[in-house]
Amino acid sequence: MMAVIVRNPTQEELPTVWEVLCGAFGERPRERFRRQIWEDSTFALEQIRIAEVDGKIVSHVWVAERPIFYRGQTVLPMGGIGGVGTLPEFRGQGLATLLLEDAIAYMNRKGHAISMLFTGINPFYARLGWADFPEWRFKLTVRRIPPLEETPSGYFVRPYEPDQDLPAVQALYRKHIAALHLSLPHVRPDAFWRDGHPQLLGLQVSHVVVAGMTGELVGYACAFPTENGLRLSEFAFDPAHPCALEALAIALAQEAKAEGKEGVISGITSWLHPFPQKLAALTEATLYHEVFEGMMLRVNDLRRCLETAQPLMEATLQATGVSWGGSFCFRLTQPEQVATIKVEGNTVSISDSDEAEVTLTVTPRQFCLLFFGTASATMWRDLVGANLSGDQMALLSLLFPPHPSVYFSGDHF
Ligand SMILES: CC(C)(COP(=O)(O)OP(=O)(O)OC[C@H]1O[C@@H](n2cnc3c(N)ncnc32)[C@H](O)[C@@H]1OP(=O)(O)O)[C@@H](O)C(=O)NCCC(=O)NCCS
Repeated sequence: MMAVIVRNPTQEELPTVWEVLCGAFGERPRERFRRQIWEDSTFALEQIRIAEVDGKIVSHVWVAERPIFYRGQTVLPMGGIGGVGTLPEFRGQGLATLLLEDAIAYMNRKGHAISMLFTGINPFYARLGWADFPEWRFKLTVRRIPPLEETPSGYFVRPYEPDQDLPAVQALYRKHIAALHLSLPHVRPDAFWRDGHPQLLGLQVSHVVVAGMTGELVGYACAFPTENGLRLSEFAFDPAHPCALEALAIALAQEAKAEGKEGVISGITSWLHPFPQKLAALTEATLYHEVFEGMMLRVNDLRRCLETAQPLMEATLQATGVSWGGSFCFRLTQPEQVATIKVEGNTVSISDSDEAEVTLTVTPRQFCLLFFGTASATMWRDLVGANLSGDQMALLSLLFPPHPSVYFSGDHF
């Protein structure tokens, strides 16, 4: 039997770790892995676990530190699983599974209530508790180029100037997330915006929208030229300035059609974000959406997730001006956990108790679809086949309101 050691690498071993990653994934992502190790200020040695067989490093997992926003208002500690790879000649011996189990233990120690990963081999991870979660992408082909004169008066679009614009863009990123109640965006440390790794993956602001009267930045986009148009990896606007969307759409439509290009604009978006809608309307284009389930989420700590939502639940109940009461016990099938939400006179308490009016046995996918706002309470009741009274449905929909979610590509790991 082979002797396997699971451990962190040393600083000196990082070039070897890099070679193992390239050996497992091929040469194409070589630059990506270089930046991941040396140009991501959130990276730390303790986040890397390697398997060593007979003194040789042969398998690798990275748990990236990626706290995320919940409903744009509270923060959920999240561990991002990346670089899961075993050298070809050492595959099929349980090494990646061993490292993933070790990564789960690490996330539990670190208090990562949620874990995320991106993959094309979902069943491999489903065995260990990760569940598919939908991401929306949009695509359109510009049919009409809106002339610059249609830009709303008082607004203009200009190229991003990092030294001057970064603090305003960072503030706009947070404002957009808060105003739209977005779940999943990374709570980016300031330094992250200047790191080479996220920049390679898409965190490169290209355009900013300025409100001419005040000089305030009210919108931005990260747009990359492609062969037939533009790819958007991120966009944000200040909802107090809806005109920012129009100004941005006109500038981007012009660029997507420049130099005889077809005018195809594609990108990642939260479901029904107003920007793709505006872009389609102004360019007389048909808007396509694609739902992609390459993202997976794992509920590492059910109780912690509900506790993060608790202040928002109380605020929503209080805003109704009515006194609510009831309790729901969530029984998660994988990894097995129980947590109960109890509502008494609009005070919400979360506990490990399994005593409640209703017990809801849910898969991790079902829980995430409700918790991260994808499914309304009514849709969700039918998904899980729950038998709930009218009052229980009303309460459930206040505790878990539908809301948009998006994870931007610059934050990948
Ligand atoms: C996927 C990978 C990490 C597995 O490493 P490993 O050390 O062989 O993993 P384990 O031995 O713990 O598990 C092997 C299991 O993974 C499954 N698996 C491997 N590749 C798979 C694939 N492409 N699709 C579905 N399942 C796959 C095997 O069927 C096997 O299942 P079994 O145990 O029921 O036979 C390895 O094949 C690899 O490095 N691939 C290239 C890089 C890659 O794609 N990484 C995943 C990125 S999300």
